[in-house]
Amino acid sequence: MFRKKINACSMPMQHDTPIRVHDRLFVPLISEAEIQARVAELAVRINEDYAGRNPLIIVVLNGAFVFAADLVRLLTIRPEIQFIRISTYGNSMQSTETARVLLDLEGQLEHRHVVLIEDIVDTGYTMDFFLSLLDQHNPASVRVMTLLFKPERYGGRRPPEYIGFRIPPAFVVGYGMDYAQQGRELRAIYQPAPEPSN
Ligand code: PRP
Repeated sequence: MFRKKINACSMPMQHDTPIRVHDRLFVPLISEAEIQARVAELAVRINEDYAGRNPLIIVVLNGAFVFAADLVRLLTIRPEIQFIRISTYGNSMQSTETARVLLDLEGQLEHRHVVLIEDIVDTGYTMDFFLSLLDQHNPASVRVMTLLFKPERYGGRRPPEYIGFRIPPAFVVGYGMDYAQQGRELRAIYQPAPEPSN
């Protein structure tokens, strides 16, 4: 007997469609499903490594807010969560080698196990800057978790302990990361579409 199948795969997949952010077209790099699966794995790592502890999770704003929100809701430990804001990119697509703290930490860092949450470690200068700042407050331990890591661009002193995805040196937008303050709400991670050839 013939049955008409509803084949979801024949529908155009949203994550295959280029999207526009400001003046640029972007194409998918990491899908929503891939991100969610990896975030769940990272949460398991934190739950295991900090079992029975009460770590201080410090989320680096702005870009890490989506990653952190998904991550912490998968934790079975009881962390404290605070936020800090460091800015390097401004509105351009190039990272600079300077960083400044825009919002200071509240509370005591002394003798605490700290996990820094980043959306992306690019050159690594932001993390280095922040790690040296933390060291002044005598924490028990500090580890960095980043969703994205660009090994070819990294020039920092201490690579992150927890890495979601190693990616090429392309600019990325989505899942908290912006292009000139737009695109943070996108569920997947995108890179610039190739320039059309003549
Ligand atoms: C991004 C990212 C990191 C930093 C990484 O922040 O969230 O903090 O750049 O770059 P680096 O490894 O080259 O130092 P951004 O300055 O874009 O600010 P935002 O998170 O507020 O968008």
